[in-house]
Amino acid sequence: MVQLVRGERPLINQSENAKKKIEAKSISFGYEKAEILKEINLDVKAGEFLVLMGPSGCGKSTFLRLLAGLETPTKGEILIDGVSSTVSIPDCGVVFQDYSLFPWLSAEDNIALAIKQKLKEKKKKKEIRQIADEYLQLVQLGHAIGKYPGQMSGGMKQRAAIARALAFGSELLLMDEPFGALDPVTRSNLQDLLLQISRDQNRTIVFVTHDVDEAIYLADRIVIFTLGTEGAITTSIDVPFQKPRNRKKLFEKNEFSNFRENVFNIMNQGLLKNMEKKETMDSFGDGI
Ligand SMILES: Nc1ncnc2c1ncn2[C@@H]1O[C@H](COP(=O)(O)OP(=O)(O)OP(=O)(O)O)[C@@H](O)[C@H]1O
Ligand SMILES: [Mg+2]
Repeated sequence: MVQLVRGERPLINQSENAKKKIEAKSISFGYEKAEILKEINLDVKAGEFLVLMGPSGCGKSTFLRLLAGLETPTKGEILIDGVSSTVSIPDCGVVFQDYSLFPWLSAEDNIALAIKQKLKEKKKKKEIRQIADEYLQLVQLGHAIGKYPGQMSGGMKQRAAIARALAFGSELLLMDEPFGALDPVTRSNLQDLLLQISRDQNRTIVFVTHDVDEAIYLADRIVIFTLGTEGAITTSIDVPFQKPRNRKKLFEKNEFSNFRENVFNIMNQGLLKNMEKKETMDSFGDGI
């Protein structure tokens, strides 16, 4: 059985000495000549639910790829559990924006493969399949275990990718817009599932979304990436609402509306500053 035991949420230790799961130290990274991330400093505490937001193209997915050890920073270093991501590939479950399922494997086999990779002792095929099926049921995909990615809708593929990341069992989960393709009911069910997993299994989660309500409902802290002329700039905001949160009550609160507006303002300020800079630069054109 997949263990999802209900219980009190261990409070995130906000002190300076709290165990750091991730330390990104002065990270810079670019593709070819374009600098995408410049001097990013970001710590994530063990058990923290961190949400990354920001305009399209500002480098959120790039940052997740760096955390997962799939790219190497051009400057700075990333420590996961105190070990540099260049020394050993971090142990993490990842949901990529494009799902990255193997097209030649069924939903069940995609997950079984991830479980097999992670197992320390050998398990019987039947046992592995059973675990894979339980995770597929958790994401409401029990009816589609035998389907191949080519036979699944976008939302089904997305849920299969989520099941795979959860089944991988790592303490660290990196999720890139994992609920973007889901209908609102499935989306809110999976948000609650993820909160339950984060609470009961004390996983550290770095989650990207464009949806402010989703960010506030899920996060302990929101980090907003803003496009700067020389790479992204980050602003960190603690979410002031106690967990576990009641969705309906939270969304009705005046404090929620004010906080939401605050988050929007920070995102808009970044966009406006960027547009002003662009206009200033354009006005230096040749005047034709
Ligand atoms: N493989 C690549 N080669 C060259 N440039 C890339 C590559 N991948 C991403 N980029 C560029 O890096 C920048 C950041 O891309 P990234 O995918 O990290 O943005 P994002 O914040 O995740 O955007 P979105 O919200 O649309 O997913 C963009 O300008 C993009 O064009
Ligand atoms: Mg992205």
